[in-house]
Amino acid sequence: MGETFRALVLDREDGGIAWRIEALPVTALPEGEVLVEIAYSSLNYKDGLAITGAGKIIREFPFVPGIDFAGRVRESASPDYRPGDPVVLTGWGVGERHWGGLAELARVPAEWLVPLPEGLGLRQAMTIGTAGFTAMLCVMALAEQGVEPGAGDVLVTGAGGGVGSIATALLARRGHRVVAVTGRSELGHYLRALGAAEVIPRQEVLEAGKAPLASQRWAGAVDTVGGAMLASLLKALRYGGTATACGLAGGAELHTTVFPFILRGVKLIGIDSVYCPRPRRLEAWKTLARELDPALLDQITTVVPLEKAAEIARGFLEGKIRGRVVVAIGEEN
Ligand SMILES: NC(=O)c1ccc[n+]([C@@H]2O[C@H](COP(=O)([O-])OP(=O)(O)OC[C@H]3O[C@@H](n4cnc5c(N)ncnc54)[C@H](OP(=O)(O)O)[C@@H]3O)[C@@H](O)[C@H]2O)c1
Repeated sequence: MGETFRALVLDREDGGIAWRIEALPVTALPEGEVLVEIAYSSLNYKDGLAITGAGKIIREFPFVPGIDFAGRVRESASPDYRPGDPVVLTGWGVGERHWGGLAELARVPAEWLVPLPEGLGLRQAMTIGTAGFTAMLCVMALAEQGVEPGAGDVLVTGAGGGVGSIATALLARRGHRVVAVTGRSELGHYLRALGAAEVIPRQEVLEAGKAPLASQRWAGAVDTVGGAMLASLLKALRYGGTATACGLAGGAELHTTVFPFILRGVKLIGIDSVYCPRPRRLEAWKTLARELDPALLDQITTVVPLEKAAEIARGFLEGKIRGRVVVAIGEEN
């Protein structure tokens, strides 16, 4: 069958989704101008939803999941890329509708790729991955809304997870006083090492949700949890404060009142990383390369082989994953 590549393949089985590691023909790859040899992929909450079938993320089978990857260009029909160029990809429906990064090869449209920013290695790019890129978009949005370092405490929810860990590190590095919320008290030391000034239990934020408004506490917030957590923190934002909402690890619904908005002028900014326009994408990656400490990236990373990816992805739905999980795939390991 010609040249083949190894991939994690999902297929329907007995009313659920089964996975296996399989050799697929290169000719089976979807269309796109650039063929990439993948060095690393990573695991994100959405991969957990996709691989377990809990989120109805994938609709056509067999399918190769993995919503991000970093690697080197092998073949390119685009003038923007040459063989050997290091690239990173997040979003655009890769790993959802277009075969993804949990494989040795991927073929994608050139405009979806980002040249690896100077100062970042391929592995570091996937320690950052979709989670870190999203965290950066949240931090950029807070700054644009005038949440300056020194303006007051900034809350990060789901702080032990991928987005939360990197948001904590980025905000602390910029000089914000970060208050990290976690449901896992054992992560206190980990979160302080990332730069959190204070680590608080979920209940402390949820308590504020019992009244229509709570005392003004947060100058800004990065929320990865949604549901009651987001509703509660909105009630404790300071006058003119901003919360960014990017996640639903704790629930997709949002039950709140207009009081925080009409009495305190607070702002709620939605963050989408998947279809983030290219100029902002490039700016975010450049800023990540400049502002994230590589030693810190190592501290939050667990590296696993492709064979373990599907099993570990389940852990996201149980809130068990700490920091980032990088999947080592290609020859640069
Ligand atoms: N908008 C976008 O473009 C975009 C991009 C990336 C991710 N996301 C979303 O952002 C969220 C985080 O992604 P991730 O990859 O960082 O996932 P993750 O590593 O699993 O982190 C989520 C964290 O949320 C907390 N959590 C989990 N269940 C909870 C619950 N029931 N109530 C309160 N807190 C809970 C846990 O942190 P603690 O144990 O520390 O509390 C968990 O580690 C997901 O919903 C994901 O889909 C969105």
